Amino acid sequence: MNLLVTGGCGFIGANFIRFLIDRPDFSGRIINVDCLTYAGNPENLADIEKTHPDRYVFVQADIREPDQMARVFDDYAIDTVCHFAAESHVDRSIVSPDDFIQTNIVGTFNLLEIARNRQGRIKRFHHISTDEVYGSLGHDGYFTETTPYQPSSPYSASKAASDHLVRAYHTTYGLPVTLSNCSNNYGPYQFPEKLIPLMILNAMEGKSLPVYGDGKNIRDWLYVEDHCAAIWEIICRGKEGETYNLGGNCEMENIGLVTMICDLIDAKTGKTSGKPRRELITYVTDRPGHDRRYAIDANKIRTGLGWEPKTAIETGISATIDWYMTHQDWVSRVNTGEYREWIRRQYQAG
Ligand code: NAD
Ligand code: TYD
Repeated sequence: MNLLVTGGCGFIGANFIRFLIDRPDFSGRIINVDCLTYAGNPENLADIEKTHPDRYVFVQADIREPDQMARVFDDYAIDTVCHFAAESHVDRSIVSPDDFIQTNIVGTFNLLEIARNRQGRIKRFHHISTDEVYGSLGHDGYFTETTPYQPSSPYSASKAASDHLVRAYHTTYGLPVTLSNCSNNYGPYQFPEKLIPLMILNAMEGKSLPVYGDGKNIRDWLYVEDHCAAIWEIICRGKEGETYNLGGNCEMENIGLVTMICDLIDAKTGKTSGKPRRELITYVTDRPGHDRRYAIDANKIRTGLGWEPKTAIETGISATIDWYMTHQDWVSRVNTGEYREWIRRQYQAG
């Protein structure tokens, strides 16, 4: 397998490559294409690049540029695609939606066109998407694979558009696609703009913890390694043309989650300035168009492919806190943008 992973220097893509590279049921080669936006950090895979020079390749390229991408497909005889690359943060999409349209919609379209023009060779095109395409739930019910799309933010609208394109390329051209729509992920290497790493780092430093609105919005949290296992299962055994919903079966109000993070850090390191970290929580102005509740019905992949999440939330959050505590260098390089210098030395010096 010559597997193209797009966006492999981001949070889930990097975890996926780390998850896959040494698995006994994967003997292929990974070609990681990433244009290195603020969220892309090849340092996340620097060790893999050293230990697997024959099985892992990083190519700095942009999915918005069809010529660059066509060259990658041909140079590396790509036969399988796992497409993560995206602008991924809702708050950024509200302030500045343009990149979301260009990368998430036009970039996905470019990859589909290139795959369509190499049909015989492409065995699988797996598209990674989000449960946010379904919009917001009330108190009851779950998102299933047949829930109508009703995206609220420019981010989720751009992901919805890309999902429709991927399905259309299956229906119209017979491209062998699969899709997965996943709930909120957490774990190592997540850029500290998303709720969990932001709260962990602020709480560790005794800074205020900004909770939007009344803090009662609900998300269904999934540990990133469980997401990676589901993706690999779908690539190997998922049915062509099908969509699989993925979730952690773990609904939590934001305020409950932030409180849990505070208490776990207190237990690990002691209180901050003699006070419990819960006192750092500050309610701030709500996000515009803030979806109230997401919850996934993952029955299709559970019964069809035997996948279910393995990591309990307390275990996963505790492991994530430990990871950020023991990767202070990574955090400070990401926070100061210093990793840009590392990238320049590594990839641009020659
Ligand atoms: P991320 O923002 O951490 O990483 C995105 C990666 O894509 C970065 O490395 C970035 O440099 C790269 N990228 C962006 N634009 C690019 C372009 N034009 N060309 C090439 N590379 C580009 O995102 P993530 O959290 O790892 O999310 C990965 C995928 O999973 C996205 O498609 C996202 O919609 C989806 N998803 C994320 C979550 C979540 O909770 N994080 C949940 C469900 C689905
Ligand atoms: P986020 O991690 O941005 O993921 P998404 O918007 O894709 O679900 O946010 C998760 C939840 O946390 C969401 O309800 C918004 C909320 N939130 C805060 O309350 N404060 C914050 O500082 C951030 C980043 C998010």
